[in-house]
Amino acid sequence: QDNQFQAIISHAKEYGFVFPSSEIYDGLSAVYDYGPYGSELKKNIRDYWWKSMTQLHENIVGIDAAIFMHPTTWKASGHVDNFSDPMIDNKDSKKRYRVDHLIEAKADQLKEKGEEKEAEALLASMDSLLAAEDFAGLKQLIIDQKINCSVSGTGNWTDIRQFNLMFSTQLGSVAEDADTIYLRPETAQGIFVNFLNVQKTARMKIPFGIAQTGKAFRNEIVARQFIFRMREFEQMEMQFFVRPGTEGEWYKYWKEARLKWHLGLGIDASKYRYHDHVKLAHYAKEACDIEYEFPFGFKEVEGIHSRSDFDLAQHQLYSKKKMQYFDTEINQNYVPYVVETSIGLDRMFLLILSNAYEEETITKEDGSTDSRVVLHIPPKIAPVKLAILPLTKKDGLPEIARELVDECKPYFKCFYEEKDAIGKRYRRQDAIGTPFCVTIDHQTKEDQTVTVRYRDSMVQERVLMSKVKELVMGEIL
Ligand code: GAP
Repeated sequence: QDNQFQAIISHAKEYGFVFPSSEIYDGLSAVYDYGPYGSELKKNIRDYWWKSMTQLHENIVGIDAAIFMHPTTWKASGHVDNFSDPMIDNKDSKKRYRVDHLIEAKADQLKEKGEEKEAEALLASMDSLLAAEDFAGLKQLIIDQKINCSVSGTGNWTDIRQFNLMFSTQLGSVAEDADTIYLRPETAQGIFVNFLNVQKTARMKIPFGIAQTGKAFRNEIVARQFIFRMREFEQMEMQFFVRPGTEGEWYKYWKEARLKWHLGLGIDASKYRYHDHVKLAHYAKEACDIEYEFPFGFKEVEGIHSRSDFDLAQHQLYSKKKMQYFDTEINQNYVPYVVETSIGLDRMFLLILSNAYEEETITKEDGSTDSRVVLHIPPKIAPVKLAILPLTKKDGLPEIARELVDECKPYFKCFYEEKDAIGKRYRRQDAIGTPFCVTIDHQTKEDQTVTVRYRDSMVQERVLMSKVKELVMGEIL
């Protein structure tokens, strides 16, 4: 499993999906850059989410709020006081760890050894100790489990303390009168503070939602597993405002709707599961994760949270502005309740890569074998939809191929290439997950047909060139 994950990371770099940030300076821990195919894939996932929220739901509208927000936002939201994680330092290695990450890593080790029950029991003890904020108990658990992270292998730990995860910086140029502001640790607060602006200007009636995608920042202490846990990442969040008392049914609705969205990409349902929370975040009344089976085990990709009126009521308190809605159906004013769906774009990207990656052995007609690396990315989010490949560089074939490029490129991302043997070109397209390749050969000049080659099945068939655009459009919408 670990080898498979390493192979995915290398592949992502080799084919221009993900690079370590500022790599020429040896990178920056838990920060990554997206390359040509990565940025396309990321954009396509974002668009697929955005469309499902703001186009397919008539009662959801989008916003694009700033990353910097008034510092009181984070006081009101509870992030200044509560957005911290229990940390522990190893006295020998002088390294700091998030307590839950340490214990989860131990549980992963147990699972690898086949000790599933022990791992589950360990995670359950951790959950209840975290919920009770029993730091002495958590430290004892770390000692009892013989968790040690120093080079010398000792488990010489400090007591557990809380550390805030927000990055702070100064607004204004003169340090003395500069205000400390934070880089937002979630996009949700930009939605809450705009609740009335949006409700009034878009004339929304409850129940309705506000969607937003954008960067969020967290000073994660243990940043492991490639783009799974980053310090700068992107979220896709939707806050759904409802009448108090109806939040239970809307929570259930969104829990199901969000899993359906994932399955709509054709990903196997057995790779997903729900994890209902025992330890709730400071704002949550009811919460669950949608987990996906990554190469390193089932992990959270998305959260659905029933947040009550916590955020709006807090902003009302701190801003002294009424965050209320007049419900004409029941003739009442109230602070709406909120059900939130929150998914990490980078994490969804990793999910897609992990799900797509295959090192496939191919048996040829003569019985010999060959191999290829193929990314089975769902066509609607694949970085390139169609590769257009003239068989040779001469005999007018490139000109015909260019005609097809010109016809298709206003509609979807195409890739033109005339270099190298056709088999080699197919392999390169497989490696970046292009669902369709089209080859223009001498027969094209006679009967206007081209060979369409399908990425997953590798089946090839002749199709009229005039039908290619339609064929691809049918698969990507
Ligand atoms: N507004 C609620 C909220 O932010 P969260 O569970 O802290 O909830 C939501 O985060 C999602 O954001 C997670 O399910 C995950 O996909 C993504 N996420 C959180 N921290 C992340 C990190 N350090 N790196 C990448 N993605 C992260």
